[in-house]
Amino acid sequence: MTDASIWSALRQAQPCFWANPNRISHDAVHDKAQNDESRPVLPSEQQLQAARQRLARFAPLLAHLFPPLRESQGQITSPLIAVPALQDALSFPRAHGQLMIKADHCLAVAGSVKARGGFHEILELSEKLADKHDLLGPTADVLDLANPRSRAVFSTYQVAVGSTGNLGMSIGLIAAALGFRATVHMSHDAKAWKKQRLRDNGVEVLEHSGDYALAVAAGRESARHGPQTHFVDDEQSLSLLLGYACAAFELQSQLQAQRIRVDAAHPLMVYIPCGVGGAPAGIAWGLDLVFGAHVRCYFAEPCQAPCFMLHMVSPAGTQPSVYDFGLQNRTIADGLAVAQASALAGALMQDRLAGCFTVADDTMLRHLALAHASEGLQLEPSATAGFDGPAWLAQTQQLHPDCTHVLWTTGGAVMPEAQFAQLLDQAATLPRHASQP
Ligand SMILES: Cc1ncc(COP(=O)(O)O)c(C=O)c1O
Repeated sequence: MTDASIWSALRQAQPCFWANPNRISHDAVHDKAQNDESRPVLPSEQQLQAARQRLARFAPLLAHLFPPLRESQGQITSPLIAVPALQDALSFPRAHGQLMIKADHCLAVAGSVKARGGFHEILELSEKLADKHDLLGPTADVLDLANPRSRAVFSTYQVAVGSTGNLGMSIGLIAAALGFRATVHMSHDAKAWKKQRLRDNGVEVLEHSGDYALAVAAGRESARHGPQTHFVDDEQSLSLLLGYACAAFELQSQLQAQRIRVDAAHPLMVYIPCGVGGAPAGIAWGLDLVFGAHVRCYFAEPCQAPCFMLHMVSPAGTQPSVYDFGLQNRTIADGLAVAQASALAGALMQDRLAGCFTVADDTMLRHLALAHASEGLQLEPSATAGFDGPAWLAQTQQLHPDCTHVLWTTGGAVMPEAQFAQLLDQAATLPRHASQP
């Protein structure tokens, strides 16, 4: 698509695809980042290794706190699954490669990709407080952080976050489980069942009548007044990003275990739903470190909330909002209802991201029903945002059977059955027509 047709499609909330003309090789990105002092502070590979070690070190604590995590021994992990029936249902030819799903919708406890970043940030906070208050005894057993003395210390701290639902769920559940006072500021998009689940787990939920940015601003403001308050900043947090990025190593070992090659002749295409950009940027950055030029990541956004694509196509240094382009930021994909992208995620992706595309709400609903009918998956609408990615690529570049296409399904498995049934009913009322592209 030309620049003019992309701008026109964005303004008219029509599905569109943008390939990043600024994408450069992994090594060149690294050199450029070293020499560019105007960028926000970006994460380093050393920090990523430290994050990996932190998640491994605290895995026994997570298994202790959350029974559903015992099977994985406290690892925050999701399966990588082949989905031949979905590939057929999407009419995506085998000659263009194999479709797979990275099933973060199954992540235990929090039920979304937000578990990766959120759990990491609260574990990092707990680690710092453990040092400060000398909570880990001489044996340094991480389970000490679940004992009454640690809980008493944590209860003097508050954790606050602003969210459209899933980040709040992740942060709220782990913070409350460790004994912190947890407050989640929810935007008007947040689903009632998510708020109820948090309240049932001892989390304070403050409901705002505004959008995601307003909920985040309210959380940030509350943290300014509380010296013992830690604000999880979805727009600026390195710790969240690092938690998401660790998923790259998991995907690497799963591909190896399934004997799926990734190299120049076997490229890996990854399609990730995008809200403010932290989760997909963290994952894409991690994948770039692991696979270099052999991976290409694409972000998927709702037509009414394409904040990341707008950010990428707008002049550097501007912070465009979807409202400035006459868009509503209202979408069935509640997790992606964000008007302005994270500047940190934008800076990280500027030269790395392969592209972005947008998707209509009806298409997400159709894909939700298709994934259920073909593979028995329970996804929330946001989690299906990337499903048009392979078809967009087939239109814009040469694909061959040795490509692997990974659809990152980011949430849905913990949704109550009745909610999911409602979504299926809604999908059943849609006219049966082929979706874009
Ligand atoms: C299900 C789901 N997918 C994707 C995302 C996108 O993550 P981010 O907002 O970090 O871009 C979210 C965000 O809440 C989400 O809930």
